[in-house]
Amino acid sequence: MSLRDAAAAVRLNAHAPYSNFQVGAAIRAASGTVYLGCNVENVAYPEGTCAEAGAIAAMVAAGETRLSEVYVIAGSPMPVTPCGGCRQKLAEFGSGDVPVTMGTTVSDTEIHMTLAELLPGAFTNDHMTGS
Ligand code: THU
Repeated sequence: MSLRDAAAAVRLNAHAPYSNFQVGAAIRAASGTVYLGCNVENVAYPEGTCAEAGAIAAMVAAGETRLSEVYVIAGSPMPVTPCGGCRQKLAEFGSGDVPVTMGTTVSDTEIHMTLAELLPGAFTNDHMTGS
């Protein structure tokens, strides 16, 4: 199954009764294994979690910490882009050249970017070195 199809499938499990905006994320880790996540909202709105965060949690829980490819999909007219927090979360586990594809279930339109393009000037461990 393609990364896109995997992300589209897990998106259907999203718990998004407040925004009615379901998102799916599929992450291919360094081993080649694909980890999936969907957004999980909560009646206490700030407690909700994004699809990317779920996929990252699944990857780390399985014992992997390096991602090689990411696909995020929603049902919006334009492909969904990861929120700022998720860009930082993804950058924790992937190098700047990791490809991130953003898609939509309503058309074949895709946006292709890298982690570095999504999060220029990312805060990294290097910034704390020597402090
Ligand atoms: N959302 C994600 O899961 N990932 C994104 O990349 C953008 C936004 C979710 C959060 C919330 O449940 C809903 O989409 C509306 O913001």
